[in-house]
Amino acid sequence: MTTSTGTDWAAWQNSWDRQQEWYMPDREDRFRIMLDMVEALVGTAPRVLDLACGTGSITARVLARFPEATSTGVDLDPALLAIARGTFDGDDRVSFVTADLKDPDWAAKLPYESYDAVLTATALHWLHSEPLADLYGRIAELVRDGGVFMNADHMIDDSTPRINAAERAQRHARMDQAKRDGALDWAQWWQVAAKDPVLAEPTARRFEIYGEHADGDMPSADWHARTLREKGFAEARPVWCSPSDSLVLAVK
Ligand SMILES: C[S@@+](CC[C@H](N)C(=O)[O-])C[C@H]1O[C@@H](n2cnc3c(N)ncnc32)[C@H](O)[C@@H]1O
Repeated sequence: MTTSTGTDWAAWQNSWDRQQEWYMPDREDRFRIMLDMVEALVGTAPRVLDLACGTGSITARVLARFPEATSTGVDLDPALLAIARGTFDGDDRVSFVTADLKDPDWAAKLPYESYDAVLTATALHWLHSEPLADLYGRIAELVRDGGVFMNADHMIDDSTPRINAAERAQRHARMDQAKRDGALDWAQWWQVAAKDPVLAEPTARRFEIYGEHADGDMPSADWHARTLREKGFAEARPVWCSPSDSLVLAVK
């Protein structure tokens, strides 16, 4: 839909999805299993926190599958948040918060003190392990008893270097082919955003905040599950994985 600003937010969502799928062709599978586990553990009307929400990809899929859900999106990127806010404008099930997840007080900006499900995808590798462990402690405080946290991300098991190298080589060969066929990578997508009349200014701001990309770690799924248990979750383990990515589920 094109809005009064002349911006076609659905087209931006679509192009964001294509860019992310260039890195993760099985991205929708990850989201589907994530929502299956939401339904299995906290039902079909959850209060969700879409952590590091970007354009609100998780929120969109939550509301499409669970119309009675509500969602709070939190992120620091002004351009991706502009797309998120434009997309969900007028939907009172959704709100967005600008916050830095490395700020110890970020959760004070949220509209609720607790959530049934805190969900995140392709984002926490922007943090180093130590601040991520601290963040997991704060997330454990935000999830209600019996509620869930899920993190779908690139997670690397250092004990399998030959498997990792072979998987990476194959994945990158496929990405190179998709690029020759016209797929936009991260840097190219941002070049397009920088030329958009509405997104140019927030895009310039996001480059001041992050540069091209923040620097973080990609610990193993075992590290994530262990750290989540240490930080207050009763159970945690992967519920899905591909050759490169895992979805770790923790229950409080
Ligand atoms: C690759 S995007 C993924 C967005 C969305 N979850 C998706 O799957 O499409 C990573 C997101 O993490 C956010 N992010 C990274 N570090 C952050 C931080 N310290 N505080 C808030 N958001 C952060 C970025 O701004 C970006 O929107």
